[in-house]
Amino acid sequence: MTTILVTGGAGFIGANFVYYMAEQYPNYKIMVVDKLTYAGDKARLEQLGERVSFVETDICDEQKMDEVLNGVDWVVHFAAETHVDRSIAEPGPFLRSNILGTETLVRLALKYKVKRFHHVSTDEVFGSLSLDSPEKFNELTPYDPRSPYAASKAASDHIVRAYGETYGLPYTITNCSNNYGAYDSPGRVIPLFIANALQDKPLPVYGNGSAVRDYLFVTDHCRAIDLVLHKGTIGKTYCVGGATQKNGIEVAEAILKILNKPAGLLQFVEDRPGHDMRYEIDSSYIKDELGWQPSVSFEEGLAETIEWYKTHQDWWTPFAERMTLLRESTNYRGNA
Ligand SMILES: NC(=O)c1ccc[n+]([C@@H]2O[C@H](COP(=O)([O-])OP(=O)(O)OC[C@H]3O[C@@H](n4cnc5c(N)ncnc54)[C@H](O)[C@@H]3O)[C@@H](O)[C@H]2O)c1
Repeated sequence: MTTILVTGGAGFIGANFVYYMAEQYPNYKIMVVDKLTYAGDKARLEQLGERVSFVETDICDEQKMDEVLNGVDWVVHFAAETHVDRSIAEPGPFLRSNILGTETLVRLALKYKVKRFHHVSTDEVFGSLSLDSPEKFNELTPYDPRSPYAASKAASDHIVRAYGETYGLPYTITNCSNNYGAYDSPGRVIPLFIANALQDKPLPVYGNGSAVRDYLFVTDHCRAIDLVLHKGTIGKTYCVGGATQKNGIEVAEAILKILNKPAGLLQFVEDRPGHDMRYEIDSSYIKDELGWQPSVSFEEGLAETIEWYKTHQDWWTPFAERMTLLRESTNYRGNA
C-alpha cells in the first residue's frame, strides 16, 4: 500500500489535495501533518473522518517529524507560511517554516528513503512581469523574488534541488499560479471579496486595481500534482498555470455581477508595498510531457466557488473573524 504524507494538509490547497487523492486512490494511506497556524484549520478535513490520519506538529520539529516520516512512500509538501501581506509585516516565521522546515523534511526524506518528495511552490519566485509585455513564466525563467514570502519559497526550491543534486533526493517541483476554490482562507482576495459582497461590505482592491494574476482552479492544480507524482520525471520542475489572467478590478466586478450586488461596492485601497504587477504562466511543458491542461474556466470556477461560500458560511465566518482579529492585532492588512 502506498503511504502519502501531506504536509500542510489542513490548509487551503493541501486539504483540497487530500480530498482529491482520497477519492481517486481509495487504497492509498493518507497522513497529514500540520501546525495549525492562523491559516490552518482541521475543520477543512472534517468530512474525511478516519480516512486520513492527522498529526499536529511543526515541520521544523525534527524529533516529531522523524517519527512521522518513518515508513512514508511519498511526501507532498504544501506546509508553508503563505500570506504575502503577513510576510511583509513579519518575515521571521516565513524564513523559519518555509526554509528551515523544508530542509528538515528533505533531510528526513533522505534518511527514510522516500520514493518521491514533491515540493509545491509558487510562480512568485519568478518576480513580476510588466503589464505591457507578452512574456510568461516558464521552467527556465530566472528567479527574482520580491517579497519575503517569495524569497523564502525561492530558497525552499533551491534547497530541494540542491538535495537532489548532492544527495540524490528523488524530487519533483511544481510552481503554480494563484489558486482559488473551496476552503480558501477568507484572508485571500477571492474569498475575501465573496465574503464581503455577501455581507454588502466594500471589496478592497489594491492600488488602481491593475495588478494581474493568473488564476488556477484548485482541483485542476490537484490533478496536475497527481500527474506529476505518478508520471512526472524525477528531478524535473513543472510550471502550472490557469490560462486565465484577471486584474483586481475584473475579479471584483465578476464577483459583484454573479452575486447581483452594486458595482459601487468596489473600493480602491492603498497598494501593497513592492506589489508584483503581473503573473502569467506558460504551462506548455506539463502539457507536452504529461498531457495536463486546465479544465475549468474562470467563469465556471468562480461561479462554483461563490456557490460553495454561500453554502459554507458556518465554516468561513469564524475563520474570517479570526483573520480580522489577527489583522487588528498586528500590522497585517490582509488580502493576500
Ligand atoms: N494559495 C495559492 O494561490 C498558492 C499559489 C502558489 C503556490 N502555493 C503554495 O502552495 C502551498 C499551500 O498553499 P495554501 O494556499 O494551501 O496555504 P495555506 O496558508 O492555506 O496553508 C498552509 C498550511 O501549512 C500549515 N503550516 C504553516 N507552517 C507550518 C509549519 N511550520 N509546520 C507545519 N504546518 C505548517 C498551516 O497551518 C496551513 O494549514 C504553499 O507551499 C504555497 O506556497 C499556494
